[in-house]
Amino acid sequence: MPSMHADNGSGAMFDAIAKRYDLLNAITSMGQDRRWRRQAVRQLRPSDRIVLDLAAGTLDVSVDILRRFSRSSVVAVDPSRRMLLAGRHKLTDPARRGDIAVLTGTAECLPLADSSVDAAIIAFGVRNFSNRAFALAELRRVLRPSGRLVILELTLPRDGFLATSARLYVHRVVPFIGGLISRRGAYAYLPRSMATFPCASAFVAELTSAGFAVERVTRFMAGVCHLFVCRRDKEEVCCGSA
Ligand SMILES: C[S@@+](CC[C@H](N)C(=O)[O-])C[C@H]1O[C@@H](n2cnc3c(N)ncnc32)[C@H](O)[C@@H]1O
Repeated sequence: MPSMHADNGSGAMFDAIAKRYDLLNAITSMGQDRRWRRQAVRQLRPSDRIVLDLAAGTLDVSVDILRRFSRSSVVAVDPSRRMLLAGRHKLTDPARRGDIAVLTGTAECLPLADSSVDAAIIAFGVRNFSNRAFALAELRRVLRPSGRLVILELTLPRDGFLATSARLYVHRVVPFIGGLISRRGAYAYLPRSMATFPCASAFVAELTSAGFAVERVTRFMAGVCHLFVCRRDKEEVCCGSA
């Protein structure tokens, strides 16, 4: 049963839909989610030896990192134990099982030491963070200087040719399919969280003021999804007043 306190987007909400999450994702994104995740993982480098997969969910990104980079190890962090458990069967290569640490935790309070990871990747997770500013500060803390941060996130196109149909799809079709297969409430949350997530340029500004240099932004499907590739700035973030 979902908890009475399963706040929108929280680990408790994802606990409640964990078993159906992969199926629903594949249906509602028409298979695009896999392609977008692969594109995100390709932004990492073989020299990234320790990679944080934050909001790791059912471990698709973690498994792809292990498959693609033979010398990298992964720290997968997510507050939803059931999402992490639902993905355990994907770790099929016995030789790589020792190269992943799966931890429960939140982005706002990462269970990791300062400068302990070479790169971090977040697929469809940032939208769910309860405090993005805290989470970005934590990411900056655990990433080594110049370490890479890759963020993949769904966004609601605000204008342009496909905006109206994308909105209709996200606001009506996704919650309907979600209600048929899983918990309607959880999938009604998707359009709300997409609508409240900042547009790409505003998110780039957030990343910049959190101490990341944004190197590249790629739009997929007329802006339904964005990929942000950043680097941790070496300089300390200055929070003094002018
Ligand atoms: C839409 S799923 C994405 C899962 C996975 N990365 C993927 O690509 O399918 C969002 C994930 O964010 C996690 N999450 C929610 N709140 C979080 C937080 N404060 N910190 C870290 N992860 C969080 C949820 O538990 C859930 O597994």
